[in-house]
Amino acid sequence: MNNAGTLVVLGSINADHILNLDAFPRPGETLTGMHYQVAFGGKGANQAVAAGRSGANISFIACTGDDDIGERIRKQLTSDNIDVAPVSAIAGESTGVALIFVNGEGENVIGIHAGANAALSVELVAAQEKRIADADALLMQLESPLESVLAAAKIARQHDTKVVLNPAPARELPDELLALVDIITPNETEAEKLTGVKVENDEDAAIAAQVLHDKGIETVIITLGSRGVWASEQGKGQRVPGFKVQAIDTIAAGDTFNGALMTALLEGEALPKAIRFAHAAAAIAVTRKGAQPSVPWRKEIDEFLSQQG
Ligand code: RIB
Repeated sequence: MNNAGTLVVLGSINADHILNLDAFPRPGETLTGMHYQVAFGGKGANQAVAAGRSGANISFIACTGDDDIGERIRKQLTSDNIDVAPVSAIAGESTGVALIFVNGEGENVIGIHAGANAALSVELVAAQEKRIADADALLMQLESPLESVLAAAKIARQHDTKVVLNPAPARELPDELLALVDIITPNETEAEKLTGVKVENDEDAAIAAQVLHDKGIETVIITLGSRGVWASEQGKGQRVPGFKVQAIDTIAAGDTFNGALMTALLEGEALPKAIRFAHAAAAIAVTRKGAQPSVPWRKEIDEFLSQQG
């Protein structure tokens, strides 16, 4: 334990089946890949691992199946410094699965079977009320049932726990949920889904951020891929560039950014410095294959940052 604030992550757990190939197969085409791996993933778990490995005091509300891989994932999460007491093994369900192609440019396409993630019910969330109430921040994504995300956000707001939403995968969201969010971290596609504004440059990002401020969100961080992020606090925006690295696999880059960002914010860092820390973690992650196997530990992030000018 350190002196930083406490974090609760609520989200998904998947077993990622990853095939690396030169190019994505087209409809009707069969291609042979160069590398196949089953790795632990899921946006919630990836973000929890990024927070845990980078030094956060964290617990994780999630569901696995009652299968062998669910058991192995829970053990791995524990060794990543995560309190998994609120991870439920759902009887008769299988752990969530993601089927992922990665092309030669390191881009990916993903299809998901929710499995046990769909069982993260409002009742399971309500059972964790004290944990959410006692935390400083709650980080969520959108691979869990929306009504459960909303229920958790309501509990958090009642108890002054900051609500942080990574609105991935992209979908439209009710204003009722957005009004409960303190920090939101969409990418360009997700920002467009939420605001109707196509984000192609900083000016667009500022307009999209303002739409989200108008819905009641204080801090908007729009991730812009290799251009870094647009960070807007109460309407005052700036671009915070990322680090240039040779990306081989971008799976979980955004998740790593979100988890590491929370670690830095809960350690009391100001937003630009917290974003730089999160950029460093994501920069390391894209140089490695897979979701959780690519997520760096604190020592690696600190070393990376100390090597920058
Ligand atoms: O964000 C990357 C993650 O999305 C993968 O680990 C996969 O499980 C999907 O949830």
